[in-house]
Amino acid sequence: MRDRYQVQFELDMSALTSRNNYEYLDLLDRGWSSVGLDRPAGGVLCDIGCASFWYAATLEVLFLPQRLVGVEVEGHRLFRDGRARIDYAAGYLARLPNAEFVVGDYTRYSEPADLITSWFPFLTATAILAWRLPLSLLAPQQLFNRIRHNLRPGGLFFMVNHGPDEAALAERLCVAAKLRRVAHWDGDGCLSAHRMLAPVLSWWQSEVPAGNRA
Ligand SMILES: C[S@@+](CC[C@H](N)C(=O)[O-])C[C@H]1O[C@@H](n2cnc3c(N)ncnc32)[C@H](O)[C@@H]1O
Repeated sequence: MRDRYQVQFELDMSALTSRNNYEYLDLLDRGWSSVGLDRPAGGVLCDIGCASFWYAATLEVLFLPQRLVGVEVEGHRLFRDGRARIDYAAGYLARLPNAEFVVGDYTRYSEPADLITSWFPFLTATAILAWRLPLSLLAPQQLFNRIRHNLRPGGLFFMVNHGPDEAALAERLCVAAKLRRVAHWDGDGCLSAHRMLAPVLSWWQSEVPAGNRA
């Protein structure tokens, strides 16, 4: 990964965060090349539920977006050290002048994007409660409806889920939102070996012609 993408995450990040970036880079690299889709470049890339956006550098190096936006509803929640995700995000984005961290609920977010990414979105009550978030945030159908609404014509939605059952649930929700799956891939690999369930990657486009969008 270091040679192919000319990155050295460990120079700017902690050992754990740089290792996690290599994992996401590896998944994107192997996933995209396995399914044979063109990798979008330029345009607006919006990542949903980006946490502290610790992987912004990976998205930047893969997609070279004109604008990179991470939307996170829990951006102001305080950690034990008195900092919030927005504070950490400021550090991760310091070297990326095209990048922005937006604190907000994506189901109400309306900026169009050419590429929308979502790593492990919450789809079940169990997942939301494990993160100590209110159940009122569990609105996966609204989330996927909003993704379809915000995708620019020809745009791509890329998602990563925990294991095949969650991916199957995500598929039902995407289909109900009029998103059409264009590819999927099981991301098992040594850099993801710490996960209980292998990541499942999928790629989606809008079924709705551009002129008929709600
Ligand atoms: C399982 S975590 C994944 C975090 C990150 N994508 C990663 O790969 O490390 C899901 C994240 O989505 C955020 N989230 C949940 N619902 C959201 C919403 N409606 N709008 C924006 N962010 C949301 C949560 O606060 C949490 O940070």
